[in-house]
Parts: sequence; structure tokens; C-alpha cells
Amino acid sequence: MIWFTGLSGAGKSTVANALDEKLFEHGRHTYLLDGDNVRHGLNRDLGFSDQDRVENIRRIGEVGRLFTDAGIIVLSAFISPFRSDRQMVRNLFPVGEFIEVFVSTELAICEERDPKGLYKKARAGEIRHFTGIDSAYEAPTSPELLVDAGRESVDSCTQTIFDYLTERGYI
Ligand code: ADX
Repeated sequence: MIWFTGLSGAGKSTVANALDEKLFEHGRHTYLLDGDNVRHGLNRDLGFSDQDRVENIRRIGEVGRLFTDAGIIVLSAFISPFRSDRQMVRNLFPVGEFIEVFVSTELAICEERDPKGLYKKARAGEIRHFTGIDSAYEAPTSPELLVDAGRESVDSCTQTIFDYLTERGYI
């Protein structure tokens, strides 16, 4: 389970997608969980209150475990803002099978990129409880990996993770 965490606009999905492709090229069977295929389906009943985010992450963790049980490498790209929730998911997996990747792009850069225009809306008070603005993001204290997609290219971030997986014998 390769668990990407970071602010909205940090580049989690972009790096996860690039890694997914790279793993596929190397003949690995993978599955990518992200907002597009989870929040619009399984979790479409959930919003962005603290309580709903906890449930969002819990379900994604459980689904991830089902996939890994089937022998598939799972990549997930969600903000997952709360440390306790990420720990809860980590606890679902045997030691060494949960790899937390902190995409550490800083808020100012995410906000400047603002790919979906949501930071602007959050600053204007049109969206409430937006992560980094009026809802907390608790950065990981000891992630397996940290990639700064604000300063490094997508390719470089992807390669860092790929190298880690190779060196540790995951692939
Ligand atoms: S999480 O906090 O529950 O892990 P998740 O990754 O599923 O969040 O969804 C985050 C995406 O939803 C953001 O990238 C953004 O596009 C959108 N979004 C809509 N409202 C919010 C909000 N209040 N806070 C954060 N993201 C939001």
C-alpha cells in the first residue's frame, strides 16, 4: 500500500499516476485509488467535515487492504489530513507493507497553482473547512518517503519512490 498524503494541489495524484504507469511498464499489477474513482462512487455520501474525512480514509484503507490481499500494489492519493487516521490505516497492514509518501509541496505553492480554483474560493469564504486554510493538515512526522513536488519535477519524485521500492525489494 503506497499511501500519498499532502495538501490539495500538492501533486499527489500526478506523482501517483506517474508511478502507477512506471510500475505497469515493469509488469506490476497495480491499482490507483483517488478522488476520481472513490469520492464519486463508494464515498459519494461523504463531505469534508472532520468526521466524513475520517470515514473517507477508513474506507479507503479497508479497500486498499482487500486489493493488497489479492496481491495488487495499491497506490492511494488523498489529502488524509489527520495523523491518527493515517496511523489507523497503517495498522491494517503487516509491518513494511504500508509506505507513507509525504508530498510536501508547501501551501504557498499549492495555493499559487490552485489547479481547481478551490483555494481562491476558500479564501473568499465560499468553501468552508478547506485543508490548509480553515481545516488542519497534520504533516507526517516519520513518513517512509518525502518528495517535494513543489521543487522537484514529477519524474524526479517518481524515480525517488521507484528506487525506494527497488532497493527494499518490493519490486
Ligand atoms: S480528504 O481530506 O478526505 O483526504 P480527499 O483527498 O478525499 O480529502 O479530497 C480532496 C479534494 O477534494 C481536494 O483536492 C479538492 O479538490 C476537493 N475539496 C473539496 N472541498 C474540499 C475541502 N473543504 N477541503 C479539502 N479539499 C476539498
